[in-house]
Amino acid sequence: MDALAAYPRIRFMGSKHRLAPRLAEIFATLPPGPAIDAFSGSGVVAYTLKAGGRETHANDHLTFTTTLAEALVANEDETLTAEDVEKLCSPSLDGRDFIAATFTGLYFPDVDHAFLDAAWSHVDELQGAKRALALSALCLAAAWKQPRGVFTVTTPRYDDGRRQLHMPLEDLFKEAVTRCNAAVMPGLASATCGDVFACDPGQAAIAYLDPPYAPPRDDTCYVKRYHFLEGLATYWRGQEIMWETRTRKLVKRHTPFGSKRTVRDALDRLFDHFSAPQALVVSYGSNADLDAAELQALLSRHRRNVRRIEIPHRYAFGTHGTAARRLATEYVFVGM
Ligand SMILES: C[S@@+](CC[C@H](N)C(=O)[O-])C[C@H]1O[C@@H](n2cnc3c(N)ncnc32)[C@H](O)[C@@H]1O
Repeated sequence: MDALAAYPRIRFMGSKHRLAPRLAEIFATLPPGPAIDAFSGSGVVAYTLKAGGRETHANDHLTFTTTLAEALVANEDETLTAEDVEKLCSPSLDGRDFIAATFTGLYFPDVDHAFLDAAWSHVDELQGAKRALALSALCLAAAWKQPRGVFTVTTPRYDDGRRQLHMPLEDLFKEAVTRCNAAVMPGLASATCGDVFACDPGQAAIAYLDPPYAPPRDDTCYVKRYHFLEGLATYWRGQEIMWETRTRKLVKRHTPFGSKRTVRDALDRLFDHFSAPQALVVSYGSNADLDAAELQALLSRHRRNVRRIEIPHRYAFGTHGTAARRLATEYVFVGM
């Protein structure tokens, strides 16, 4: 499906960007009708559902991911014009300096922080899809310029040689706007920011569920990795910064899917919550505390027919152009 190639790439933990064409094939075999992507993350799967001709709803409990979905999935026809971009890149309307004052010496050079502060003074003048597009492009630019796209480190230990690491954020923002504008496509869609259990299954024929799965070690905390993007999408309004942290982290967002202790019960409640859609499509990666057979058994308590599809998936790891490629298995369960 050509439309999928238009979706801007963001390094997001658990992104299904590479799997999207295969997911599109699976969705095409399922009953027609509206679809929900209840953990939309980068937004690429919701976009895939929309490109497949379904009315689509995207939901996620983070603001920056919802902003991506508002700009690139829910948005049918708005784009940022050359004049919009010129304005967003012009001097600050009010001299605000929250980002410069809070993050000096951390992620980006001063000139980039000043650009973000000034750009936000113009974002505050925008509404609706244009505002979401401007914020998405700012978030994409910041993610592209950060080694590995995560904000857990402040020193560029992983300079992978990408040209983006050395480009001014303003230039990356302009590139990101071009990518975002090109992804906008017609079609009915919506986006909400909220907990999955507050997401109404409505009239959906299919629900795509891609929750974080507690891994055996480490964690799946999105706020720890992407706090800067979550802050940037809100100008840190309503966010609680942990001032004692060197990286200026935000307070963690609790999710029952992230802990080994609560993930099984959470999944059980999740499948119960989405009992109305005719089909549930559940993604599962191999690095989880819960194994695939256990997930299949859980889903089988709620659905008579559960099909397991294995997708061999190559992903790069390491930090150099010569990075090794490792084969992992991604599973997709289809419950009817
Ligand atoms: C594995 S990622 C989804 C990746 C997505 N399918 C993609 O292709 O980019 C899981 C997402 O679930 C969201 N999330 C975690 N707990 C949630 C909850 N309780 N309610 C809603 N969203 C949640 C996270 O913010 C994250 O974006």
